Amino acid sequence: MPARESLSGPGAPGNARMLHLTGIRKSYRIGPVETEVLRGVDFQAGAGDFVSIMGPSGSGKTTLMNIIGLLDRPTSGTYFLNGQDVSRMRDDRLSHMRNRHIGFVFQSFQLLPQLTALENICLPLVYRGARRPEMKRRAQAILERVGMNHRAGHRPDQLSGGQKQRIAIARALAGDPAVLLADEPTGALDTDTAADIMELLVETNRSHGVTILIITHDPAVARGCIRQVRIRDGRISESHSRNPPCGAVEGEGPVVETGAQARAAVQGAGGPNRGKWPE
Ligand SMILES: Nc1ncnc2c1ncn2[C@@H]1O[C@H](COP(=O)(O)OP(=O)(O)O)[C@@H](O)[C@H]1O
Ligand SMILES: [Mg+2]
Repeated sequence: MPARESLSGPGAPGNARMLHLTGIRKSYRIGPVETEVLRGVDFQAGAGDFVSIMGPSGSGKTTLMNIIGLLDRPTSGTYFLNGQDVSRMRDDRLSHMRNRHIGFVFQSFQLLPQLTALENICLPLVYRGARRPEMKRRAQAILERVGMNHRAGHRPDQLSGGQKQRIAIARALAGDPAVLLADEPTGALDTDTAADIMELLVETNRSHGVTILIITHDPAVARGCIRQVRIRDGRISESHSRNPPCGAVEGEGPVVETGAQARAAVQGAGGPNRGKWPE
């Protein structure tokens, strides 16, 4: 796999706008009641950026991540992904963009229980139509990168939480995405394991130049990122410090991942979620 040039932040030379969102609004209507969750979000991230997103429970973090990950559309606003206007793109082209550019990691891993670690990692490549030998070679290389080659044949229920998250990260990286979106990736892990997973994400960002966005309520995770943004009252604000003050943590209930997110994690391309290893 060609390693991307590693860049150190939004101001780095040649750092094209990988993500460029302007005036993003998102409302949900339940019966007669319309709730505006995002009220004009402007956000940019360059190639190789590493951003934490914090905010109170229900503030719209997952909503924003679903929009950035092309799982949901904004009510209004513009969004350019890697220079392409995805705001008005047709669904099939969006699926293609998602599969090519974006990897997802979730709090609850979203691994398919009946597949081995290696097979889980292969899934995004299956939906890309990769050939089997190439797929296995690539999956094995990624397994090694996340330090899990000794667990290739294990199923998720034979792995610890930290190991499952390593496999989930490997799956997200299998298609060599430019952008990795992680929604509370350490939320289900103990402190030491969370630190290990964060280290893996830092390494992924530094060595491979993957743009990473992490939703978190853990200040230690946020401190490990290059940029820290917060969502409040439907808008984004950015801290200019690498080390945001501790204690600025709001309680967060368990993250409920939607079916669309789970499908995106395993297939990326938007193909059918067959849920079994293809013959
Ligand atoms: N599909 C939906 N339909 C209606 N309301 C939704 C939907 N998804 C999220 N919301 C509402 O939008 C708000 C923000 O949700 P979410 O983005 O999940 O917040 P966070 O991830 O910050 O906890 C919440 O009030 C939630 O109830
Ligand atoms: Mg959320």
